[in-house]
Amino acid sequence: MKAQVAGETDELKKQGITPGLAVVIVGDDPASRVYVNNKKKACELVGFKSEEYALPAETSQEELLELVKKLNEKKDINGILVQLPLPKHLDEKEIIEAIDPIKDVDAFHAVNVGKIMIGDYDFLPCTPAGVMEMLAYYDIPVSGKNCVVIGRSNIVGKPMAMLLLHKNGTVTICHSKTQNLKEISAQADILVAAVGIPKFVTADMVKDGAVVIDVGMDRDENGKLCGDVDFENVKDKTSYITPVPGGVGPMTIATLMKNTLKACRLQNNC
Ligand code: GUN
Repeated sequence: MKAQVAGETDELKKQGITPGLAVVIVGDDPASRVYVNNKKKACELVGFKSEEYALPAETSQEELLELVKKLNEKKDINGILVQLPLPKHLDEKEIIEAIDPIKDVDAFHAVNVGKIMIGDYDFLPCTPAGVMEMLAYYDIPVSGKNCVVIGRSNIVGKPMAMLLLHKNGTVTICHSKTQNLKEISAQADILVAAVGIPKFVTADMVKDGAVVIDVGMDRDENGKLCGDVDFENVKDKTSYITPVPGGVGPMTIATLMKNTLKACRLQNNC
């Protein structure tokens, strides 16, 4: 995907157009820092202009809104990404709604969420779209399959369910109040874990031959990076399983590059 974006970017540059992405990070959350660094590296690799705005944790709502408004106006910036979560005193919803929908490469703005809901969209949220790319790449059929998504966040769970539904999956969303989670997950042909709890999905929750997608980015009891799936114990039951790190994460970044290129094309009518 990155090679495809890089090739198209080369062509655009010949017309004097360079896609530009602005990434805003507030505070010093270590996980957010890693994501933002990876986003910057990917921009360099595909030939985008990238701007990073690293603001102190005590930044006010007004200051952040001011920056978003400035970036909305900036002609050389096609995509704006405000890294989440924001510090508690900031109103995430208001910040997201301040981003011009045509520059909303995360597809978090209500306009873009609504467009996805009706299946007529410009951008898809990076992580769920990255998961769908993987399924397509490995020719894993979704139509008619039992798809179970564990987690209902606006960033992953809800849009993930919608994208699987668009591909005619029979989709169930499970969450912290689900009563018979094990029975439901054990029926999944495609199981997506996006709960944020280390090694939450154990072997007894997985059907033989299932496709298991791990969106988690957690730390185990020794502080080692791990996913929401107990990989070592689950892997032998699956037909496909994504590792953490190195599975869904890179797909999120690749989709962000694709979305930024699309935003650039939309804004330049090219
Ligand atoms: N935090 C975790 N994932 C994401 C993402 O895809 N976009 C943004 N903006 N913040 C995140």
